[in-house]
Amino acid sequence: MSDLFSPFTLKGVTLRNRIAMSPMTMYRSVDGHLSDFHLMLAGSRAAGGFGLVFLEQIAIQPDGRTSASCAGIWDDAHIPGLQRVTALIKDMGAVAAIQLGHTGRRGSEKKPWHGKQQLPASDPDGWQVRGPSPIPHGRRYTLPVQELSSAEILDIHRSYADAARRAHAAGFEWLEMHFAHGYLGSAFFSPLANQRTDAYGGTLEKRLRFHREAFDAVRAVWPSHLPLTMRLGSDDFNAQGIQFEDALWAITELKQHGLDLADISLGMNTDDMKDVPFGEIGFMVERAARVRRECALPVGVSWNLGVPEAANRVIRDELADIVLLGRPALSNPHWPVYAARELGHADPFSLVPEDWAWWIRTRPGPEGSLGWPLPSHRPATR
Ligand SMILES: Cc1cc2nc3c(=O)[nH]c(=O)nc-3n(C[C@H](O)[C@H](O)[C@H](O)COP(=O)(O)O)c2cc1C
Repeated sequence: MSDLFSPFTLKGVTLRNRIAMSPMTMYRSVDGHLSDFHLMLAGSRAAGGFGLVFLEQIAIQPDGRTSASCAGIWDDAHIPGLQRVTALIKDMGAVAAIQLGHTGRRGSEKKPWHGKQQLPASDPDGWQVRGPSPIPHGRRYTLPVQELSSAEILDIHRSYADAARRAHAAGFEWLEMHFAHGYLGSAFFSPLANQRTDAYGGTLEKRLRFHREAFDAVRAVWPSHLPLTMRLGSDDFNAQGIQFEDALWAITELKQHGLDLADISLGMNTDDMKDVPFGEIGFMVERAARVRRECALPVGVSWNLGVPEAANRVIRDELADIVLLGRPALSNPHWPVYAARELGHADPFSLVPEDWAWWIRTRPGPEGSLGWPLPSHRPATR
């Protein structure tokens, strides 16, 4: 039986465990470039035992960023900064993952802690946002949206391919397409945002054309032995939006276009989502498990899985193949060690670099003096 600490192999890549740091936008870039901050963030989580380490949604075009301070990969000049981070992640024993994205109509934002609003194109840090149809997202995201022409869609697909080529050159070994959270891929899939009447809108089949073409463009340049995955907005929690059954169909379809694993998340194409159980532990797990069963594809899942027992159950009960942690990874760089201690792992410090582990194992000091509280209970040793 697998658990959180079992290795996981996808294509030619093996993760040392099932724990990923989920992509998280950090608003700490200048002209799309990464900095020492990103090196610290990713390096510490890799050293803390995470098996797979994402940075943030990395924009394939400048107007695909969330804000002017977000990371990008639209230029070869971005490669050295990315490469510095992937080398450290690898050196710490984890696999470096990139999430490629375009924010579409939800770009041009202020930093959230400066107010959850978009900046108009007239602002030095703002731009004209683009999307499938000229429909603003709503309440907080009110900027007028320019409808993408088919030539611009083609250009975006070329940018996906260029970005994938750069990601490989920068040393990433896992590539995720971000088609969730109200950004461009999610918007094309949702009838709330996509009301086109051409080949990219209307029927469900046509609303998936953007994604099929993006996958084809990326798969053509991304090495076949490396995982190509997708975070999909699988449900808009709105009767007029994406329904989960649509997602099941889309995932089965995208398997034919090179999809290796689906990370099941929210559509977020409206600020009028109904009854999202944000307060519940693992509220997307049931949907992920259905994808795993019904689409016969490995899956990942996030949302409220920071309680070790809950995360472990997801793997042990074969509901998902990997667990992605967002806020818990921010709050505790050593979450995997914490989880290992809580779950009774025989050697929790096997998850940190071996030189640290050597000092900790050989000179543990009195119980409780290592900087960790004693585990809250001591379940059977793994
Ligand atoms: C600060 C922050 C930034 C985020 N940025 C991204 C992002 O760039 N791409 C993405 O797919 N999800 C993003 N998310 C969502 C997380 O990846 C994750 O799915 C979500 O927080 C739920 O997991 P959690 O309950 O472990 O936090 C972000 C979340 C946070 C807290």
